[in-house]
This record gives sequence, structure tokens and C-alpha cells, in this order.
Amino acid sequence: MLKELALKLNKEGQTVSVIGRNLTKLKRVQEQAEHPAKLHIISADYTNAEYFINKVSKISGQRPVQKVVAWFHETGYHTLQEMCNLFSSVQRREWELIHVKGSRAGNPAQNFSPKTGLLCTYKQVILGHVMEKDHMRWLTHSEISSGVYEAMHSPRATSNIGRVNP
Ligand SMILES: NC(=O)c1ccc[n+]([C@@H]2O[C@H](COP(=O)([O-])OP(=O)(O)OC[C@H]3O[C@@H](n4cnc5c(N)ncnc54)[C@H](OP(=O)(O)O)[C@@H]3O)[C@@H](O)[C@H]2O)c1
Repeated sequence: MLKELALKLNKEGQTVSVIGRNLTKLKRVQEQAEHPAKLHIISADYTNAEYFINKVSKISGQRPVQKVVAWFHETGYHTLQEMCNLFSSVQRREWELIHVKGSRAGNPAQNFSPKTGLLCTYKQVILGHVMEKDHMRWLTHSEISSGVYEAMHSPRATSNIGRVNP
């Protein structure tokens, strides 16, 4: 879903770590990278918090983390919170969390935001839908990647991609 974003940041020369469950898909991302040595792939399932945090701690142990783009379903919310706890405790520099959320987050009662600590700038990006003539459709992966890229570079704390119903 965020492959194009990872590849774009890598093309700009940034060091990017991509985490997902499926190693075959991850390897495909790395193969397409302009600077493969700067695109690290990590296979971990966020529903296994201990394993996931262990993997993430290796990234933050190597260098300070600057920006984290996070897409977690509800089954991973506790792991997302643990990841924020980890960064809050080890980071000495400011960092940014760009939290990508499904359209339900447009309803405040269903909008989960983790606690992130003083050094973190928190941004949320809510995925909406697109109206086309007489029907609506969900966003494409490409629209999601470019919308998140824009949100990363925007000063706004909340960005919507497409139309989000309150
Ligand atoms: N308005 C909206 O709410 C809106 C609009 C557009 C799209 N969407 C949503 O966006 C999603 C896009 O579809 P998708 O099939 O690409 O989404 P997905 O199944 O959530 O996968 C997206 C990414 O998350 C990773 N992932 C999923 N579960 C994981 C886990 N337990 N641990 C670690 N990584 C995990 C996947 O990696 P692996 O495949 O490697 O595990 C993949 O890279 C859909 O869920 C769609 O509903 C929502």
C-alpha cells in the first residue's frame, strides 16, 4: 500500500526501513529501489508485539529515527503504542509519527491515536474515498502513497486523502 512512498523516499536518498509480514513482497520492493543499500526490509507481524518491537528496536539502536509512517489495523494498536514507548525512551532527537488511518477515524469515537511523548510531532492522515460520476470508490495505492508524501511535507496535524465523512 505504501510501496511507492518508500521507493520515492529512497530515490531522494533517504534511508528507509520497510516492515511488513510478507518477505516475498518486501524483496520485490527492495528490487525496485534506486538505492537498494539504503532500503532495509524487515519481516514482522505487528500482532506479535514482542517480536515486532524487538525488530524495530534494532533500527532505532543503529541510528536515530526521524520519521515513522505507520499503518496499523486495530489488531496492532497495542504494538503501535509499544513502538511509540520505545522511541520515546531511546530517542534523544525530535522525531515525527505520520499515522495513516482508515476512514473510520473521521469519527472521533473511533479514532485511536497513541501517546507519543514530548520529542514527537504527531500527524494523522485519514484515508477517504473518491466520488466518480455517480459512484464512490476507495483510494488507489498510488493515491495513498502520494497523499501521505504530501502530508509528510505539510505543517498540518491532520490531512485527509480524498473525501472523509465526519
Ligand atoms: N477510506 C479508507 O478507509 C480506505 C481507503 C483506501 C484504502 N483503505 C484500506 O487500505 C488498505 C489497503 O489495502 P491492503 O490490502 O494493501 O492493506 P493491508 O492488508 O492493511 O496491507 C497494507 C500493508 O500493511 C502490512 N500489514 C498488514 N497487516 C500487517 C501485520 N499484521 N503486520 C505487519 N504488517 C502488516 C502489509 O504488509 P504484508 O502484506 O507484507 O503483510 C502491507 O504492506 C485496505 O485495508 C483498505 O480498506 C482504506
